Amino acid sequence: MRWSPASRCSDALQEYPNLTGTKKDCNQGACGACTVLCDGERTLACLALAVQYEGAEITTIEGFCKDGELHPLQAALMEHDGFQCGYCTPGQICSAVGMMREFQAGLPSAVTADVSANALEFSDEEIKERMSGNLCRCGAYVGIRAAIHEAFRSGVPR
Ligand code: FES
Ligand code: FES
Repeated sequence: MRWSPASRCSDALQEYPNLTGTKKDCNQGACGACTVLCDGERTLACLALAVQYEGAEITTIEGFCKDGELHPLQAALMEHDGFQCGYCTPGQICSAVGMMREFQAGLPSAVTADVSANALEFSDEEIKERMSGNLCRCGAYVGIRAAIHEAFRSGVPR
C-alpha cells in the first residue's frame, strides 16, 4: 500500500482493490461524493486523515450489500430512478443512512421548526436540508428523496 497515516481517507481507500466504490470529486468537502460512515457517523473521506480513524469501523458502499441482497436504500434508489450516472450514489447512500440515524436519535436540523418536539417529522424539507451536502450533478434529487422516504418507512438504517 502506498498510503501513509497522513493520507486522506479517500486516497487510502482507493489503494484497496476491493474498495473502489468511494468516489472523489471536488476533493475539498463541497460535494459529498466521498462520504463514508466512520463508527456509524457520516464523514467526508476527502477531508479526513487516515490517522484520525485508526481503529474506527469504516463502512464504505461495499458494506451495504449483504449476502448478495441489496440494502433497502439501494433497492429503493433503483425503484425510484434515484440516479443517472451513479457517480454521487455511493456518497448519497452512506450519507442518507447516517442522516437517518441522526434523525432517529432526535438531532434537529436547521429547518426543524420545533426542536423541543418529541417526534420530528421526516419531511421533504428535512431530507433536503440534511442531505444538502450531497450534490447530484445529474439532478436525480426527486428520485433520491423518494427512495430515502421509502427506506425510512421500511425501518432503515441497519
Ligand atoms: S470529494 Fe469529498 S466532498 Fe467532494
Ligand atoms: S447520479 Fe450522476 S451525479 Fe448523481
